[in-house]
Amino acid sequence: MKTIMKFSAALAVTALVGVSFGAIAQTKKAEPTKKAAAAPAAKKADPAVVEAYLKNTFGKAPPEWQARIVPDETLKTCNAGHNEVSSKDADAIVKRELARVVYPADGKLLGDWKEGKKVANNGRGGQFSDPEGTVAGGNCYACHQLEKSEVSFGTLGPSLTNYGKDRKFDPAEAKNAFTKIYDSQAVLACSNMPRFGANKVLNEKQIQDLVALLFDPESPVNK
Ligand code: HEC
Repeated sequence: MKTIMKFSAALAVTALVGVSFGAIAQTKKAEPTKKAAAAPAAKKADPAVVEAYLKNTFGKAPPEWQARIVPDETLKTCNAGHNEVSSKDADAIVKRELARVVYPADGKLLGDWKEGKKVANNGRGGQFSDPEGTVAGGNCYACHQLEKSEVSFGTLGPSLTNYGKDRKFDPAEAKNAFTKIYDSQAVLACSNMPRFGANKVLNEKQIQDLVALLFDPESPVNK
């Protein structure tokens, strides 16, 4: 427990000062191993117990949620290799996920950046305790910097400041962004970014609005 707390404290520091994970790993390695050797070997969790516990926590969830604890083919492959998969498996995942992406029928990729800004900032949704009709957001700031004026953001994903401007507002790049947001694993096989459209967290309009947030020259992301 102590170790876990120490490690999460280190992670928090990492987020603040931007130390690389490699640096932490080295620090951890450099720690004296005497204590670790003296401690009793950690008991391995029985997978059946973990499975039963997990199912139980979903006990009150509606049936369509129950299905979410069963990993789909893509997740199963990524989980089995701890996100390290062969190039053959990666190709198969990308092909499978790409087939799930539904592009706007009229080909319009950019919506309203002002609405996209709300979606990016909204971290609500997807919780059992949500009142009925809660509109889910994308919680993009949990992992990305977008507007430069926003000081609170996660760094798991790359900064998206000037995203459209840096790509010369190229429509092909806007389509790639639509694909990425709709189904991140259609772009990178074992991405850590949620599959927002494919998993029905965000609808088509919300994704168009997010693409506008990234690609509209008037969007604060490009200012
Ligand atoms: C849980 C973390 C997480 C969240 C939440 C998240 N992303 Fe990402 N995103 C990533 C990571 C990590 C990458 C880097 C590539 C990868 O792993 O897929 C990425 C990559 C991207 C890229 C491609 C960047 C490039 O290099 O060209 C775009 C665009 C993007 N995200 C947009 C969004 C938007 C918009 C949202 C909100 C709807 C969002 N992301 C939410 C983690 C996240």
